[in-house]
Amino acid sequence: MTLQRWVFLRKLTAAAAASSSPPFSLPSSLSCCTHVLGFSQSAAANMAEEAKKLAAYSAVDNNVQNNQAVGVGSGSTIVYAVDRLAQLLGELKPMLSLLPQARQLILQHGLALSDLERHPELDVAIDGADEVDAQLTLIKGGGGCLTQEKIIAGNSKCFVVIADYRKDSSVLGEQWKKGVPIEVIPMAYVPVSRVIAKRFGGEVNLRMAVSKAGPVVTDNSNFILDWKFEDVQNWSEVNTAIKMIPGVVETGLFVNMAERAYFGMEDGSVKVRKAPAN
Ligand SMILES: *[C@@H]1O[C@H](CO)[C@@H](O)[C@H](O)[C@H]1NC(C)=O
Repeated sequence: MTLQRWVFLRKLTAAAAASSSPPFSLPSSLSCCTHVLGFSQSAAANMAEEAKKLAAYSAVDNNVQNNQAVGVGSGSTIVYAVDRLAQLLGELKPMLSLLPQARQLILQHGLALSDLERHPELDVAIDGADEVDAQLTLIKGGGGCLTQEKIIAGNSKCFVVIADYRKDSSVLGEQWKKGVPIEVIPMAYVPVSRVIAKRFGGEVNLRMAVSKAGPVVTDNSNFILDWKFEDVQNWSEVNTAIKMIPGVVETGLFVNMAERAYFGMEDGSVKVRKAPAN
């Protein structure tokens, strides 16, 4: 059941790589809505969905090349990436192998499943994020899958992020208010919470389930802490320091991992941000 949220595919043919079609644009009626008083919530939701789709299509079209192994995450944005991959595959009928968890999504699209045992190194990984800063440092794990997501990203030659405009920040915490998710071994959640709050400030809360009693339990049978930090941090240092605390499995800080981020914008364009040269 591990790594099930990942879709892998191989052997997209050259034609897929060649088809870097321009990003789709928003219907003009939708773009215009932003200027209308009483802009409704559902129109806002539609716009965010359209932005996710733009980002996902653009990321797939510009980063997936001939004969590559590709990892695709789960989450709301990824649905569009799988859609786009399936469109290309539909035209080309290439050989495909995919990793399990969005099982239904994958099978619906007629894609096959694979895993890191068979494909331990990916050419490209595509995934969403809860927040992306100017340096391409990410917060991920709002959905609780940070450990598996980081394993996939860490075993890809190129990690590409797709998001809508609401995830685009100059510094972390600007847009995402729920803090940094941290996966912990259940018996250690109290001491880990105390150490983090004492050393780095802010507030650390055990994430509770919404539709059942008790804490959220991850796919790895662990708990999730949400650390609401106060100040802008040196994320590289903080990430390393938190990982060294006994009982911490993984943090939702992705530092120096993403190579490019694609943001679907409100005006129907796609903004691409590249990692700073190291
Ligand atoms: C953050 O910490 C790392 C490791 O100590 C250091 O190499 C880096 O220069 C620091 N970054 C900033 C912006 O201070």
